[in-house]
Amino acid sequence: MSADYQVHGSVAVITLNNPPVNGMGLATRTAAVDGIERALADEAVKAIVITGAGKAFSGGADIKEFNTPQALAEPNLHTLIATAEGSTKPVVAAIHTVCMGGGLELALGCHYRVAMPGAQIALPEVKLGLLPGAGGTQRLPRVLGLEMALNMIVSGTPVASEKLAKAGLFDELFGADADLLTSAVAFAEKIAAIRPLPKVRDRRVDYPNHEAFLQFSRNTVKAMSGPYPAPLECVETVAASVTMKFEDGLKFERERFIHLIQTTESKALRHAFFAERIAGKVPDVPADTPVRAIKSAAVIGAGTMGGGIAMNFVNAGIPVVMLETTQEALDKGLATIRKNYDNTMKKGKLTQEKFDQRMALLSGTLSYDEIGQADIVVEAVFEDMGVKETVFRQLDRVMKPGAILASNTSTLDLNRIAAFTARPQDVIGTHFFSPANVMKLLEIVRGAQTGKDVLATTLALSKKLKKTGVVSGVCDGFIGNRMIEQYSRQAGFLLEEGCLPEQVDKAVEKFGFAMGPFRMGDLAGNDIGWYIRKRRYIESPDISYSKTADLLCEMGRYGQKSGAGWYDYKAGDRKAYPNEQVNAMIVQHSADLGVGRRKVGDQEIVERLVYSMVNEAALILEEGIAMRASDIDMVYLTGYGFPLFRGGPMFYADTVGLPNVLSAIEKYARGLHGEAWKAAPLLLRLAREGQTFNG
Ligand code: 3HC
Ligand code: NAI
Repeated sequence: MSADYQVHGSVAVITLNNPPVNGMGLATRTAAVDGIERALADEAVKAIVITGAGKAFSGGADIKEFNTPQALAEPNLHTLIATAEGSTKPVVAAIHTVCMGGGLELALGCHYRVAMPGAQIALPEVKLGLLPGAGGTQRLPRVLGLEMALNMIVSGTPVASEKLAKAGLFDELFGADADLLTSAVAFAEKIAAIRPLPKVRDRRVDYPNHEAFLQFSRNTVKAMSGPYPAPLECVETVAASVTMKFEDGLKFERERFIHLIQTTESKALRHAFFAERIAGKVPDVPADTPVRAIKSAAVIGAGTMGGGIAMNFVNAGIPVVMLETTQEALDKGLATIRKNYDNTMKKGKLTQEKFDQRMALLSGTLSYDEIGQADIVVEAVFEDMGVKETVFRQLDRVMKPGAILASNTSTLDLNRIAAFTARPQDVIGTHFFSPANVMKLLEIVRGAQTGKDVLATTLALSKKLKKTGVVSGVCDGFIGNRMIEQYSRQAGFLLEEGCLPEQVDKAVEKFGFAMGPFRMGDLAGNDIGWYIRKRRYIESPDISYSKTADLLCEMGRYGQKSGAGWYDYKAGDRKAYPNEQVNAMIVQHSADLGVGRRKVGDQEIVERLVYSMVNEAALILEEGIAMRASDIDMVYLTGYGFPLFRGGPMFYADTVGLPNVLSAIEKYARGLHGEAWKAAPLLLRLAREGQTFNG
C-alpha cells in the first residue's frame, strides 16, 4: 500500500505514501485510484482531499521506473489524473513542501488546489531531458497564462507557492501556522456542493499575438539549449496549448514525451541525477554512522588551493584559520581571499554585511600551537612527500584528539601520509579541484585505516560545503587524475603522429568537453604535469610519454601564468592563439623520432582520448579504487568538464557499446604506442558478456 485512505467527517483523505518524496510509482498510482473509487462508492463522502505524507506532496513520476514496464502499466499517471478530474465528487489537492513534475500535474487535474506557503512548485522535467508528460504543458498555461507557464516549463526552476497563489494556481493559500490537513478538510467541506466541478481543461489560453511570442521563444530557447532537444520540445508542446484543442494537445505532448524519454541526452541526465545521489552512499558505512561535529577548521598552506579551500569553509559559516611558513605568504593568501570576496561584492553578489561576516570568520597564523583546537585541518602545502611529512608530524603533535587530519594531495600515497601520525584512523584525503571555491567535485580519499566515522563526517561535510563528494581508494592520482594521465599521454602521442594542439583541442571541444587538453594544460600550469612526470621517470621508467610537453616547459612556456604555453595569450583576452615556434618544435620532434606525420581524423582523436580514460577507469573499478562506474562518471562530470549530455565516460562507453570500445582499443594497440592500449580485464569480460559498466 503506498497511499493511505481515511475519512474525516464527509471528506475522504488520500495520502500518497511512498518515501522519500512520494514518487508516483505503480503501487502509489494504483492505491490513489483505488482511494478515489472507494470514496465515490461511499455515500457518506462528499469530497476528496489528496495530499502527501512526509516531506513532499509529490516529487513527480517515479524516475526509477522510467524505461521499465511499470512506467506504462495501468493505472498510469494519465489514468490517475483522468480519474481525479472525472470524479463526480470534488477533488482537492492539498499541497505542501514539494510539488513537482507529475505531482503538480496531478494537482492540476484536481478540481481545487490549496497549499501551504513555502512549498516548492515546479515542472522540472526539462532538467532530466524531458517535458511534462502528464498534461502539464496543456494545463499549466491554462492556469498561469502562456508566458509564466512557458518560463516555468522551459527552466524547470521551482517557484514558491506564495508567488503562484497570486498568479491563481491555488484556490486558497493557508497561513504558515495552519494545520494543512484540518484546513484542507474544512475547505473541501465548504466547496463540496458546488457544481459544475471546475476543470482546468475547460479554460482557454488567451495571449494576444501568441504566434509572435512563440516564435521569439523558439529562437531564444534554440540558441540557449545547445545539444539538448528537450527545451525546444517544451516550447512546441506549450504552443499546442494555444493552437490545439485540449485532447489533441495532450496527445501531442504524449508523443513528444515518449520521443524524449528514449534520447541519450535524457538518459544521461537521469543517470547523472541518480549518480550524484548514490555517490554519497558507502556500502560498509551505514547511514546512521555517527559523525563528528565540524564547527571550526584550519588550512595549512595559503596558496592557490589553500585559499580556495578556506573560502569553502567560510562560505558555509565555519570559522577557519590558515597557517603559513612566512608572514609574507600568509598576508598574500589572506589578501587574495579578501580580493575575491571584494570582487564578488563589486558585482553585486555579496552585501557589505555578508562580506564583513565572512572576513570575520577568517584568520591567519604562523604557529601550529594556535590551530590545535580545530575540528578539521586540511593540508594544502607543496606536492612533495618530504614537506607533507613535516606537516603531518606537526599536526599529530598539536591537533586535539578526534580532530580530522585531511590532505589535499592530488597524487601522493595517503597511507604513507597517514603513517606519519600515530592516528591513521583520523587521516583522510580531501582532494579539491581548482578553483576550489568554484568546482563542485570533492574526491574523498579513503585510506586503508581511515575510520568509518571520519569518512561519514567528510561525506556530510562535502554536502555542507555544497560539493559533490565521491569516494576514491588510494592509488597514484586517485580516480580523476589517474584517468586524465592516460588522456594527456594520448594527446601527447597525437602531437608526435601528426596533430597540432588546436586540432586536438577543437575535436575534443566539439565532442563537448569544456576545454581541450592543451588549453586545459595552459590553464592549470604545464609545470605541474612536468613535475609529476619527472617523478614518474624515476619511479615508473616503463611508462612512455611524449617529450613534447617537457620541451614546451624547457622553453619556459608554463601556460597562462607565464603568459605563454601551448598557445600565446594576450592581456585582457582569454583566447588561445597558436604559436609558430611551438608548432615547429612539435613537427621537429616528430622528425627527430623518425615518425612520419600523418593526417589524423577527429574521430581518432576523440576515441583515443576518451577510450584511454575508459580503459584506465575499468582498471580503477576492478581494483576497487572506485566503488561503482557511476562514481567515475560523477568525478568527470563535476571535476573535469566532461559533457553532461554524454553522461560521463563510463555511461558514454555504455552507449557506444563496450564491444565497439574494445575493438577500437584493440585497433590502437596495433598502432604506434600500442603499449599504452592493453585492454583492461573488466572491459574484456563485460564486452564479451554483452554487459555495461553501469549495469
Ligand atoms: N522519483 C524517484 N525518486 C526520487 C524522485 C522521483 N521523482 N525525486 C527524488 N527521488 C529520490 C532521490 O533519488 C533520493 O533517493 P535516495 O534517498 O535513495 O538517494 C531521494 O528521493 C531524496 O532526493 P534528494 O536527495 O534530491 O532530496 P532533496 O530533499 O534534496 O530534494 C527533490 C527533493 C526536490 C524532490 C529532488 O529530489 C528533485 O528535484 N527530484 C526530482 C524531481 C523531478 O524531476 N520530478 C519530475 C519527475 S519526471 C515526471 O514527473 C514525468 C511526468 O511529467 C510524466
Ligand atoms: P601552491 O604552491 O599554490 O601553495 C602551496 C602553499 O603552501 C604555499 O603558499 C607555501 O608557502 C605553503 N607551504 C609550503 N610548505 C609549507 C609548510 N611546511 N607549512 C605551511 N605552508 C607551507 O600549491 P597549490 O597549487 O595550492 O597546491 C597545494 C596542494 O594541493 C598540493 O598537494 C597539490 O598537489 C594539491 N592540488 C593542487 C591543485 C591545483 O590545481 N593547483 C588541484 C588539486 C590539488
